Amino acid sequence: MRKVAKERAVEPAGKKSTESSDRFLGVGLCVRCHQDEGEQWKTTAHSVAFQTLVDNKKDATPECVTCHVVGYRQPGGFQGQADAAKLGNVQCENCHGMGTQHEAFANPQKTVTQAVCTTCHQGENDPEFNWEKKLPMIAHSNMSGETLKHRKGAMQKTGSN
Ligand code: HEC
Ligand code: HEC
Ligand code: HEC
Ligand code: HEC
Repeated sequence: MRKVAKERAVEPAGKKSTESSDRFLGVGLCVRCHQDEGEQWKTTAHSVAFQTLVDNKKDATPECVTCHVVGYRQPGGFQGQADAAKLGNVQCENCHGMGTQHEAFANPQKTVTQAVCTTCHQGENDPEFNWEKKLPMIAHSNMSGETLKHRKGAMQKTGSN
């Protein structure tokens, strides 16, 4: 029962199960069942990563978009502006993988590793990334909102929303 419900729910509405290619599905689907993780995610900077590009007028710049959205130019992923509402920001699937592979998520070999973070937290975009220090800041048990605090302050200073 549980397995069937799970499989059914991670399938996007209107798509036939015969279509087997893996793809991204978007956070809207995940939070139907994982409400707590969804609420916590909203307290992290990942949930506003696309807005950051909008604020900097770089939301149409491919070199920037790639790390600030879900699956840029990949199956089911962000292709362009029209996908911003559903696939903008760094979401669940950036860390856990394509939603169609959900059955494998609980497999210990599929846990989120440091290598997942450093696909984005690397080079000039984050030269000093420190896994031990940064992981607790976004862990699902952390509701402190610490990764958004500096941002709110900055926005108040500049007077933009
Ligand atoms: C129909 C409800 C449902 C939907 C929709 C759903 N999940 Fe799940 N998910 C579950 C259930 C049930 C489990 C199994 C939990 C367990 O075994 O402890 C699970 C397990 C997981 C796990 C592994 C947890 C662990 O114990 O390691 C992750 C990660 C996860 N889901 C992420 C996602 C993401 C990301 C999405 C959106 C693409 C998603 N889920 C969509 C119900 C759902
Ligand atoms: C798809 C790219 C991507 C992945 C994968 C990713 N991040 Fe991020 N992360 C970002 C972006 C972009 C921001 C900046 C968001 C903003 O403020 O607009 C960010 C911000 C953060 C911040 C707050 C800023 C800082 O550096 O203190 C932390 C902490 C963080 N991420 C930790 C992690 C950890 C830990 C992982 C892996 C478990 C991870 N991230 C995976 C792109 C990513
Ligand atoms: C390789 C992935 C990657 C690319 C490409 C990328 N970013 Fe980011 N960006 C990140 C990560 C990771 C963070 C969070 C780390 C940090 O803040 O030090 C971040 C943080 C930011 C922040 C700070 C957000 C805040 O409120 O603190 C801004 C602004 C930003 N990026 C804009 C851009 C722009 C503009 C571009 C294109 C020129 C770009 N990014 C390209 C990964 C990337
Ligand atoms: C920045 C990376 C990142 C993002 C974004 C992220 N997670 Fe996770 N998630 C993790 C890590 C790390 C764990 C700890 C277990 C592991 O290593 O897989 C985890 C664990 C989980 C679990 C297992 C139970 C728990 O709470 O620890 C579920 C379910 C889950 N995530 C769902 C989600 C959903 C749903 C979203 C989006 C709303 C999401 N995650 C976004 C990194 C992330």
